[in-house]
Amino acid sequence: MTLLQRLIEQAKKPRGFVGSLMLRIMNKAHSGMNTWLIRQEVINDGDIVLDIGCGGGKTLQSLSKINRSGKIYGIDFSEQAVKDSIKTNEMDVSNGKVIVTQASVSSIPYSDKFFDKITAFQTHYFWPDLANDVEEVFRVLKDDGKFIIISELYKINYHMKAYKTKPEIKQLFESVGFQTVTIQENTQKGWLCITGVK
Ligand SMILES: C[S@@+](CC[C@H](N)C(=O)[O-])C[C@H]1O[C@@H](n2cnc3c(N)ncnc32)[C@H](O)[C@@H]1O
Repeated sequence: MTLLQRLIEQAKKPRGFVGSLMLRIMNKAHSGMNTWLIRQEVINDGDIVLDIGCGGGKTLQSLSKINRSGKIYGIDFSEQAVKDSIKTNEMDVSNGKVIVTQASVSSIPYSDKFFDKITAFQTHYFWPDLANDVEEVFRVLKDDGKFIIISELYKINYHMKAYKTKPEIKQLFESVGFQTVTIQENTQKGWLCITGVK
């Protein structure tokens, strides 16, 4: 395996010391995307929010800061990411405001219509079966709830074979049942934000 392939594997499922180091780097590198989401004012105080592929837990921390009376859940299929997210959010985890669980997006361990908002930063291009996984997200989202994907465009282009273009991803969201789908691009940063309203 080449060094690049090893790094991609670590970004896809962080493991051990190197994985933890990468999660710390990602916490810093992706914080601008958290700010972009917060500026869009889609998260309301009191919301029950799920962050999928929560990585090093920085997004959970940002969501908790703007959502004082709500609850923030994180899932990640990497054991290391779960450990690191818990560490990043130690206080909120101990008081029960932030709940982090090891789980895959393909089988989210929550009941139907549980969440007001669901976020996914820099992760959907790694998901095993995007169509089924978006359906699974739809299942746990409340009616009128919002699902927000934020990702760098070049990573979508690099990692994905299908659903790379805006019309393709819009069509996927609509076929799953999302009523309104909007796609915004931050051309300066090269970021994409896909929002589906159930
Ligand atoms: C590039 S990191 C991004 C982490 C974090 N969201 C951020 O913005 O810094 C991708 C994360 O998605 C997680 N991930 C990848 N595939 C997943 C899946 N099928 N289910 C749950 N988590 C997944 C990885 O374990 C990793 O923590």
